[in-house]
Amino acid sequence: MKILFVAGDPKPERWTALIRALLPEAEVLAWHPDSPPVNADYAIVWQPPEALFEQEKSLKAVFNLGAGIDGLLKVRNLPGDIPVVRLEDAGMSVQMAEYVLHQLIDASRGLDMYRVQQQDSHWKIHRPIKREEWPVGVMGLGHIGKRVARALTGLEYTVNGWARSAHEIAGVRAFAGNERFGEFLASTRVLVNTLPLTEATRGIINRDTLSRLQPDAVVINVGRGEHLVDQDLLDALDTGQVMRASLDVFSREPLPEDHPFWTRPEITVTPHISARTLRDATLEQITRKIRDHAAGREVSGIIDIGRGY
Ligand code: GLV
Repeated sequence: MKILFVAGDPKPERWTALIRALLPEAEVLAWHPDSPPVNADYAIVWQPPEALFEQEKSLKAVFNLGAGIDGLLKVRNLPGDIPVVRLEDAGMSVQMAEYVLHQLIDASRGLDMYRVQQQDSHWKIHRPIKREEWPVGVMGLGHIGKRVARALTGLEYTVNGWARSAHEIAGVRAFAGNERFGEFLASTRVLVNTLPLTEATRGIINRDTLSRLQPDAVVINVGRGEHLVDQDLLDALDTGQVMRASLDVFSREPLPEDHPFWTRPEITVTPHISARTLRDATLEQITRKIRDHAAGREVSGIIDIGRGY
């Protein structure tokens, strides 16, 4: 079996060596646009170029190195007749839960305020948190959204969830479909986005959405930058409708140096690190699925190209 590794890592051998170790029966090659076609059976990819699919016509499945497959769906000649498989969790959802809790607690416990006070050696105690004042709404209830919601219920926050389809998660008030979106927003002060990016979700955090949240809203975006209409968030911060935002993903990455998000004190910017790809867990999962697929066994995480995730 031949496996092609196709990602913009300057040191692809860090990946290919591990794939070889996990699947000793495979021939593993790092793809290069100048190399001749190798008739690979499987490709492990992150945002591959169209040239890959022009050259490789024997692929039996494509494995995405991330949970979000929006980058892959942009490739116009992505074959529609073979399974395209996304990463499922692989150590990412616990990191997302950690990130979201950290950002939420920073706001709800006023920890940012105490950091400022420390600069002046100022001992001042603010009133304790009332959990009922911080209802959280998690958009997207896949592996990641569910893990985030569960972590929040563990700390006894009020947790709402919203997804396209119905979900049952203990301790979470789950809303399904567009017709319940307004109700979800009205019950939410802290909006957490873990949605996949599709035509239906692009720009979903906009002026209208933000205006329907509870007052002094907080936005935590760990989905994709294109879910958010940047100017609408800035306007909502100006009017005070939104008090704070934690943004890990951006329409353009790296976030351009002159982007206003960098300098707004109410915004925390992190460089797409809320869930790092863990090489071992990622390749263990993908190589296991390749072995299963090669043996004719069912593989989970196959995306529905029409639906977009
Ligand atoms: C990272 O952004 C991913 O989609 O896994």
